[in-house]
Amino acid sequence: MTLTCTACKATYTPHLLQTVCRKCGQPLRADYFFRPKQFTADDLEVFPSLWRYHLFLPSIPELYRISLGEANTPLEAHDYRECKVYLKDETVNPTGSFKDRGMCLALSVARALGVTHVALPSAGNAAIAAATYALAGGLNCRVYLPETIPAVFITELQDSGAEVILAGQTIAEAGATMAGQLDDSWFNVSTLKEPYRVEGKKTMGLEIAEQLGLTGDPKEWDFPDVVVYPTGGGTGLIGIWKAFQELLNLDWVRKPLPRMVAVQTEGCAPVVKAFLDGADATTPWLDPQTCALGLNVPSPLGGAWMLSVLRASRGTALAVPENDITGAQQRLAEISGIPAGPEAAVAWKGMEVLMEKGWIKEGERVVVVVTGDNRRY
Ligand SMILES: Cc1ncc(COP(=O)(O)O)c(C=O)c1O
Ligand SMILES: [Zn+2]
Repeated sequence: MTLTCTACKATYTPHLLQTVCRKCGQPLRADYFFRPKQFTADDLEVFPSLWRYHLFLPSIPELYRISLGEANTPLEAHDYRECKVYLKDETVNPTGSFKDRGMCLALSVARALGVTHVALPSAGNAAIAAATYALAGGLNCRVYLPETIPAVFITELQDSGAEVILAGQTIAEAGATMAGQLDDSWFNVSTLKEPYRVEGKKTMGLEIAEQLGLTGDPKEWDFPDVVVYPTGGGTGLIGIWKAFQELLNLDWVRKPLPRMVAVQTEGCAPVVKAFLDGADATTPWLDPQTCALGLNVPSPLGGAWMLSVLRASRGTALAVPENDITGAQQRLAEISGIPAGPEAAVAWKGMEVLMEKGWIKEGERVVVVVTGDNRRY
């Protein structure tokens, strides 16, 4: 595996601790160069954790792997408006969100490369996942959160032994404070400032293809037609797309790649704006306001990468009104029984809009990623 800059294509060794590209500051991507049938599904581990997919992940000695039983989450099928809608239920992860996948991997690899202190700014869920996996892995953890964060996050973070610093109104402002305070003893695990949170989230895409395959005849790994994703920093969108491409390279799936959809709220929609403007990069969203805390990311580092995924997949991006979130959350709960948070409700609403517009067509198979639960709202 080699780490490649997503912008200038400079390459970096995975045997040393890496952050972003030293030449241009853009995120690094892990490239594996899989050959057709280099390994098969029979080679996967059977144990239920993210490490089941270790052949798709950076290779580290087993003793450094942290695991709390994350991943292997249900993919539930529902008939909805002439479509098959599959809900990828990430609420069952140890801390209630898909952030566990990214932190599981990023902190395990960091640990293997000698890191003892990790820090990040977060809108909430990523901090909880980082603190929980840091505790499990014996790492020190410091998190920077916006001052508006609900108190329940702070208590839970402190219970996990994390150092909590409140700064500013958004994750961007918290991140700016962090940048001014951290010295070299801390490893920055912010979204896309290191290459492996994406790799952890990639396992969602692997599971979607594996689980969809189980519903088909013959039982081969398969792609849906559309994946709808509530988008903030973008690691999930990017990771799922990356999984699909790697499965094509391995020749495990021979179907057209899914169309990827980024849904944001009208209160903070930098990716949607850039997509609709035909831009190659996002511009900072001024005065971001949304009740979906995980989507309050006004200036994502992965903006250009997300836009390239949306275009390469013939996907789309749309923003839904803040006022529609609660209703969508109720419908999602009624249909599925999943205690989904507002971020997932944003994706659900986006899917409904795309069905009404005919962008999602009758009979299509749509995966909605239910990224997190509502326990801290
Ligand atoms: C529940 C939830 N959904 C979605 C997101 C956005 O995720 P991403 O950074 O992968 O775009 C977050 C981020 O905090 C989140 O907590
Ligand atoms: Zn570069």
